[in-house]
Amino acid sequence: MSKNIIVYTRISNKVLKRLEENYNVTFFKNYEYIDDVHFVEKLRNADGIIGLELKVTKQLLDLAPNLKIVSNISVGYDNLDLEELTNRSILATNTPGVLTDTTADAIFGILLATARRITELDQFVKQGEWQEYLQEGHFGVDVHHKTIGIIGMGEIGEAIAKRCHLGFNMNILYHNRTRKRDAEKKYKATYCELDELLIHSDFVCLMVPLSPETEKMIGEREFKLMKNDCIFINGSRGKNIDEHALYKALINKEIAAAGLDVFEEEPVDIENPLLKLNNVLTLPHIGSATIENQLRMSELAADNLAAGLRGECPPNLINKELIPRMF
Ligand code: NAP
Ligand code: GLV
Repeated sequence: MSKNIIVYTRISNKVLKRLEENYNVTFFKNYEYIDDVHFVEKLRNADGIIGLELKVTKQLLDLAPNLKIVSNISVGYDNLDLEELTNRSILATNTPGVLTDTTADAIFGILLATARRITELDQFVKQGEWQEYLQEGHFGVDVHHKTIGIIGMGEIGEAIAKRCHLGFNMNILYHNRTRKRDAEKKYKATYCELDELLIHSDFVCLMVPLSPETEKMIGEREFKLMKNDCIFINGSRGKNIDEHALYKALINKEIAAAGLDVFEEEPVDIENPLLKLNNVLTLPHIGSATIENQLRMSELAADNLAAGLRGECPPNLINKELIPRMF
């Protein structure tokens, strides 16, 4: 009998069709959740869930007694209650690697656009305000030859470092829990304690996963340590920073500007005061979202799902503690 799968947005249409050929699929396109009767009904018989950032909580798992695998179409997995999944022998998978360059392009794009005030000046031109030669008040700052501090020198952090070093002759500082000797050699990156990185960087770029250890790791104290002309970029998760402290740091000119792809609450509330500031560039959590990459991530997630449902160990298993128990 065909397995029952819940497909939760975002997925490429091509992969959705492939899943529909192989399983009994129910597709949820929006932010439906356990308040939705139809969703709860489908959970009851679901063998697998595949999708982006569905909050998989104990409450949800109690409603899904047959569940064997949750296949995230994302590298981050802060949406999953891993302990509960593991206790129940439910596999959890993600999509590392395939999105690395795409996300690094986007985050470096945000950095360039924030430094050169590209979206702000685009609006300036389109709104007919360009009436004379622009003066310093509209200028941005250089990116090349500046110092960037990367917090979280993982796959994406390294891909950002590569762009900074090879393309823009930047000086690279980084902070991680473990040193990356390879990156130090390849990109002339210097390992720093967090405070030292914050004090010396012209750009601070946050790329750590969200965990109890990283939640709100950048707050009032950290913004005060940054240079007054520092540009802060968050490409990781909104909850890794204290948004209120960021707002205060910008208003009080403790830092110069911010580029944000992610927010504490998503979709972001239109009343969020950060959206009112010209020196904050915002994007709707789009770092990995290109046509090509959506296909790569969806395919990898579908492969993970298929392996798990066949009783095999999926290539990108997160809760590896299950290996001795199940494979
Ligand atoms: P990764 O390869 O696992 O890199 C994460 C890095 O963070 C690792 O080098 C890790 O090194 C470091 N880290 C973890 N905890 C830390 C801590 N407490 N303090 C300092 N460093 C810490 O993951 P990735 O593929 O680069 O992705 C990173 C994150 O980016 C994802 O988890 C996701 O949240 C976010 N992301 C966002 C988008 C987007 O669209 N904006 C797209 C993809 C990913 P150590 O363990 O040695 O510390
Ligand atoms: C996107 O945010 C991801 O974690 O893949």
